Amino acid sequence: MTTAVADLDRTSPKIAGRVIHPLWVRLTHWINAVAVLVMIGSGWQIYDASPLFGFTFPRGIALGNWLAGALLWHFAAMWVLVVNGIVYLTLGIVTARFRRKLLPIRPREVAADLAAALALKLSHDDLAVYNAVQRLLYVGVILAGIVITLSGLSIWKPVQFQELTVLFGGYEAARYVHFFAMAAIVGFLIVHVALAIIVPKSLRAMVTGR
Ligand code: HEM
Ligand code: HEM
Repeated sequence: MTTAVADLDRTSPKIAGRVIHPLWVRLTHWINAVAVLVMIGSGWQIYDASPLFGFTFPRGIALGNWLAGALLWHFAAMWVLVVNGIVYLTLGIVTARFRRKLLPIRPREVAADLAAALALKLSHDDLAVYNAVQRLLYVGVILAGIVITLSGLSIWKPVQFQELTVLFGGYEAARYVHFFAMAAIVGFLIVHVALAIIVPKSLRAMVTGR
């Protein structure tokens, strides 16, 4: 069983005819990308109905037209996000992809790779191997995804998920956590999409697998 599952994820270029991202990674990645964009757009509209800070998001970039419409989008895409996320996390663990590609993360390597990246000297020759900065960012955004889901659950059903809401320090605090997790994901996305455009072969690999 373990071997069969591991076979799903022979990402080493030498083993599987240069497959860099197996089909399940590509499918869950792009389903997640659409769901996250819907969650961000509708979340901004929800925020505008009762802003936490002294600003609102322009209506042109918020989704759903008004609060009730945005809540419908938010809760519809939520199911896609959560089910797809569980599939990705489960396969990432059982195929050992996370252990092989995202770990370990050593601060010294992060510092060295970050310096190289800023000097535009970081190589992307082997797309099958993530550098330390990529590992850190991918693990970070996965954790932000877990935090935003748990804080989302605790502001959606604060009675049913009481313990969770208490864990975040109450309803109001969970709202702030939810907001800052969104900000972290948006920050990640700006860098992530810019890099995908700068290194187009990485984008091709996330579409075609090679
Ligand atoms: C990538 C995923 C997500 C993003 C980017 C996101 C973003 C946002 C944003 C920006 C807001 C407005 C914040 C506020 O003013 O309080 C919001 C509100 C909300 N979100 Fe999410 N969210 C995500 C996932 C979830 C999930 C998974 C759930 C439920 C399980 C959820 C439930 C809620 C609820 C109930 C509100 C309304 C909060 C309120 O009334 O203030 N969200 N979301
Ligand atoms: C919508 C535009 C997006 C584009 C164009 C894009 C593009 C890419 C590309 C090209 C890769 C492979 C890059 C590499 O070799 O390092 C990748 C991987 C990844 N992306 Fe995205 N992405 C997008 C959205 C997202 C979103 C919204 C998230 C999460 C919130 C995300 C999370 C990830 C993760 C975790 C990986 C590593 C996956 C793995 O190897 O298991 N991406 N993305």
